[in-house]
Amino acid sequence: MRLVQTLTLCLALSLSLAAPSSHQEGHAKKGEKDKPHADGHKHESHHGAKLDRCAGMEFDAVAVNEEGVPYFFKGDHLFKGFHGKAELSNQTFAELDDHHHLGHVDAAFRMHSEDSPEHHDHQFFFLDHKVFSYYKHKLEKGYPKDISEVFPGIPDHLDAAVECPRPDCTNDTVVFFRGDEIYHFDMKTKKVDEKEFKSMPNCTGAFRYRGHYYCFHGHQFSKFDPITGEVHGKYPKESRDYFMKCSHFGEKSTADHIEREQCSRVHLDAITSDDDGSVYAFRGHHFLSITGDKFHSDTIESAFKELHSEVDAVFSYEGHLYMIKDKQVFVYKVGEPHTHLEGYPKPLKEVLGIEGPVHAAFVCADKHIAHVIKGQTIYDVDLKVTPRKPVKEGSITQFKRIDAAMCGPKGVTVVIGNHYYIYDSPMIMMRGKIMPEQHKVSQELFGCDH
Ligand SMILES: *[C@@H]1O[C@H](CO)[C@@H](O)[C@H](O)[C@H]1NC(C)=O
Ligand SMILES: *[C@@H]1O[C@H](CO)[C@@H](O)[C@H](O)[C@H]1NC(C)=O
Ligand SMILES: *[C@@H]1O[C@H](CO)[C@@H](O)[C@H](O)[C@H]1NC(C)=O
Repeated sequence: MRLVQTLTLCLALSLSLAAPSSHQEGHAKKGEKDKPHADGHKHESHHGAKLDRCAGMEFDAVAVNEEGVPYFFKGDHLFKGFHGKAELSNQTFAELDDHHHLGHVDAAFRMHSEDSPEHHDHQFFFLDHKVFSYYKHKLEKGYPKDISEVFPGIPDHLDAAVECPRPDCTNDTVVFFRGDEIYHFDMKTKKVDEKEFKSMPNCTGAFRYRGHYYCFHGHQFSKFDPITGEVHGKYPKESRDYFMKCSHFGEKSTADHIEREQCSRVHLDAITSDDDGSVYAFRGHHFLSITGDKFHSDTIESAFKELHSEVDAVFSYEGHLYMIKDKQVFVYKVGEPHTHLEGYPKPLKEVLGIEGPVHAAFVCADKHIAHVIKGQTIYDVDLKVTPRKPVKEGSITQFKRIDAAMCGPKGVTVVIGNHYYIYDSPMIMMRGKIMPEQHKVSQELFGCDH
């Protein structure tokens, strides 16, 4: 036990020491290089705003919360979702601190079990030999408890844990990881099966996300089969490419860029299809374009220099891309290369008559109406009329927020996270009572093969 702890400690220290150098090589963001690195102060390595997941980081634990938002734990901090800064874990889970100083979380998972309502949607955290169970953001009565009491047969000082509900596993199961030891714990019978996951690296964190199982190790991850531990496809992959919104780092081949953008689970910022049926999808600092069956990916900076990155909404109109970012509109004539129109960017208020920020916008072919989505409200803007007069068209009731939308021959495509939905028309999108079929962005829209 002590050996494992010492090893873990050494690993954590060596990683925290290695982080700043990889930061400088791979991720030369303006200004950040000038920040002092407190390398000598090992105890501070887990603290403060210095934690930058885009610098490459090994997580202690990963789990989704009740709303399905991924939480990445590192030391006494926590990253919520795919971008943003670290917060202290004790701000969200105060009681984790009550019993002993919260240095780190070893493992975490969110139980999913329709059969046992007493556990369904509970979040479990493992710290040394203790387990904490949260339900609806509150620590449950009687917790923390010893791991051996709640999960008999499961060792202390875990590295990772992930739920495997039916039908993924035969019975509702939790998969626990410690070093290269794997345990399947049956939630109902409490039976423990020791497994060998031969082709899997040792995981420091694991989670189930949108029906797939991911093991995090170093700053990479592998997708695995929770029953056999088999890893299919080209793994490991870089976590920053798929689960974090980070700007360009390291040199990669064009094929790698395309695959990364096709297969990323990070939400899109904007999507549009032009009159010729080409699709442009924007995410963070990158975009992916699809013309026929040809894929192209590059940085936004290289093809849309004036815009730099991180666009809010894009729509196509008469051979131009209207790109909305904060309170401005950039307009590019589509071509090789795309050319920015003179006089732009212009204020959004002037171009569409709407105050930013907006969340999505689209124009359907042969129409001259821009449908602009802001929160749950859709505005119509007639692009043939100046000055522009937005008219409130209606509200989206089926979703709280949408990430991106486009209109094509099939209708309106609405993108939320890694899923999309198709409506025959904007009208049906607002009035529809029946939830349309859910599709996967990475696989069905972008043709990712895994
Ligand atoms: C949260 O953790 C930080 C650092 O570990 C500590 O300084 C702070 O007192 C804790 N806050 C609470 C409310 O426990
Ligand atoms: C599933 O649970 C049943 C009893 O509820 C048990 O007989 C069976 O062995 C379990 N299957 C696995 C794969 O653990
Ligand atoms: C995985 O964990 C085992 C201990 O359980 C250890 O012996 C082995 O070296 C670890 N492998 C790697 C690659 O760290």
